Amino acid sequence: MQILQCQNLCKDYTIGENIVHAIRDISIGFEQGEICAVRGPSGSGKSTLLHMLGGLEYPTSGNVFYQNEDLYAYNDNQLSILRRRRFGFVFQAYNLVQELTAYENILLPVLLDKKKPDKKYLTMLIEILGLEHRLDHLPSALSGGQQQRVAIARALANKPAILFADEPTGNLDGKTGREVLSLLKYASKEMGVTLIMVTHDLHIAEQAERIILLEDGSVTDDSGRREVQQIES
Ligand SMILES: Nc1ncnc2c1ncn2[C@@H]1O[C@H](COP(=O)(O)OP(=O)(O)OP(=O)(O)O)[C@@H](O)[C@H]1O
Ligand SMILES: [Mg+2]
Repeated sequence: MQILQCQNLCKDYTIGENIVHAIRDISIGFEQGEICAVRGPSGSGKSTLLHMLGGLEYPTSGNVFYQNEDLYAYNDNQLSILRRRRFGFVFQAYNLVQELTAYENILLPVLLDKKKPDKKYLTMLIEILGLEHRLDHLPSALSGGQQQRVAIARALANKPAILFADEPTGNLDGKTGREVLSLLKYASKEMGVTLIMVTHDLHIAEQAERIILLEDGSVTDDSGRREVQQIES
């Protein structure tokens, strides 16, 4: 089943007199549990596409469907609840809450949802990510790689259906990067998490089941290309 689809997705940014066509008419579908890498040069639209697929940025035109429901037909409140419960995000710039410790950051999505934390699961995430001795630290006292790992633990804390990750290994050394990727793959295989990951790293991309290449806002190659299933609206 396709868990996520976009149809004729476009995003323009207007800056003064200039219009930037960041995303030009993209239609793609993602299977549940799929591990997908998005590659492309800087400025090709990778982050913009990821944000629109994840319900974080309104398209200029076109639609995004999560389980056949039009994301941008929801109101802001419904959309933020859906994002919190079903999606996890690892942003290019971590986006940790600076006033909260590493552990509080990881727990945040669970607490916001007023759910009881799954301590065993969280402990496992923390151990795999090697964060057990950093839990009381504020983000400012963590290295870039450590902040990245906190962001990954936070994104997985709610056991999301889809994990959107923008350069999740970008600030990690080779070994840690491979370990983080193994964790993401484990989450995909064990929990059926769909992983959509932007990466510059060809070695990381090659471990994905599918590679989508973006150039100047368009998909120019897609190793897992399939028709977008027809959506009734
Ligand atoms: N908020 C914004 N306002 C104006 N233009 C924007 C905005 N965000 C992105 N753009 C433009 O849209 C295009 C795509 O940007 P995007 O950040 O998606 O690229 P990217 O592929 O993620 O690049 P990178 O690899 O450097 O992260 C770029 O030309 C960028 O300058
Ligand atoms: Mg980007």
